Amino acid sequence: MKKLALMFTLLLPLLANAQGQAVPRSLDHMRGATPLAETTKPPALVNPDNSDVKRQRNYAMQPPIIPHKIENYQVDKSANRCMMCHARTRTQESQAPMISVTHFQNRDGNFLAELSPRRYFCLQCHVPQANLEPLVPNQFKDVDTILNQAAPVAPAKKK
Ligand code: HEC
Ligand code: HEC
Repeated sequence: MKKLALMFTLLLPLLANAQGQAVPRSLDHMRGATPLAETTKPPALVNPDNSDVKRQRNYAMQPPIIPHKIENYQVDKSANRCMMCHARTRTQESQAPMISVTHFQNRDGNFLAELSPRRYFCLQCHVPQANLEPLVPNQFKDVDTILNQAAPVAPAKKK
């Protein structure tokens, strides 16, 4: 029953639109995008970073971002192009960094002989970068910045 009610709320805005009434504003609209119901011409894709320069990680556990193009690199059930350079046995030839030990661990923390299935789809965690304006402001501070901020003075002890 709840599901039905939800479907109605989702459908209503569309119905309203078909009758030429005002369309409610979506989140995308608030971010400055065109309304959902309008056909748009998306901006051209920009060239991703291909500098081959490693970027600093923002925290120790961050998956490093990809500093090279990945266009047409096949990653599916028959092949994993990424592993042709990043596998343990390929790094001497490719000079790519090897996938780290965590990529061999299964969910129980045991080490497998090869890439763990849960790390197979690299792009789940690793992404290329493009030089674009961020959609929303970012106030992230890394741990060093926080540690370097002056510590609040402890209140004096009562006598
Ligand atoms: C032709 C070989 C090759 C292929 C294929 C390749 N890479 Fe790389 N990758 C490299 C090399 C070499 C580097 C070192 C930096 C550089 O030269 O770009 C690198 C760097 C990286 C890094 C940065 C590591 C760090 O420590 O900062 C990530 C992440 C990465 N690759 C992920 C991927 C993913 C995901 C794919 C598949 C979509 C992929 N690579 C396919 C050669 C390759
Ligand atoms: C579930 C998320 C996840 C997936 C999927 C994943 N990685 Fe990673 N990767 C990470 C994280 C987190 C790190 C950094 C910490 C670590 O080494 O575990 C990392 C580190 C790396 C590094 C840097 C290693 C080093 O020693 O500097 C490379 C290269 C890399 N991954 C390549 C790959 C490739 C290639 C694939 C696909 C075959 C892949 N990763 C799949 C999360 C992931």
